[in-house]
Amino acid sequence: MDFKDMIRVIPDFPQAGISFKDITTLLKDGEGYRQAINELKALVAHLKIDVIAGPEARGFVVGAPLAYALGVGFVPIRKSGKLPYETIEVGYDLEYGKDTLAVHTDAIQPGQKVLIADDLLATGGTIATSVRLVEQLGGVVVGAAFLIELVQLHGRNKLSGIEVLSLLNYED
Ligand code: PRP
Ligand code: MG
Repeated sequence: MDFKDMIRVIPDFPQAGISFKDITTLLKDGEGYRQAINELKALVAHLKIDVIAGPEARGFVVGAPLAYALGVGFVPIRKSGKLPYETIEVGYDLEYGKDTLAVHTDAIQPGQKVLIADDLLATGGTIATSVRLVEQLGGVVVGAAFLIELVQLHGRNKLSGIEVLSLLNYED
């Protein structure tokens, strides 16, 4: 299945120069969505994973079904102010703008092996921040999995020492 045929590319969104990879056109295709998650599952099959953590919002759409498919738990990493219990927070820069991510302090137990999942690796800021949150809780990040990697932004350089697995590479 050619997943790139199911991902719509929108030039200059949300601002000039950004070539936005719109996964909604893949998600609405039942067979495409299922196969994409199944292929991601195969990509991470060699890793020992206790739990998957995914950053809001698009990381939920990838991380939660992957967790379900693997039979492991899912930990939401959310933007500041959304989680109801005690949290830790880390601020970060993203491809366009700034934000703060948070996780519940009891979401991950020390020593748990964590896969971080998201739809897209761009500059790597979101995932590097997610790694910091997981590690602050004592979790061990065993890998990071994405549907899409924008290779020219070199996000994987921010993730040295972490295995980065992507289903699709885009050069722009
Ligand atoms: C997008 C995307 C990734 C992140 C990638 O999320 O879903 O999480 O940007 O960029 P980076 O590698 O440069 O950090 P966004 O913050 O736009 O929010 P959303 O998932 O809630 O749409
Ligand atoms: Mg996101």
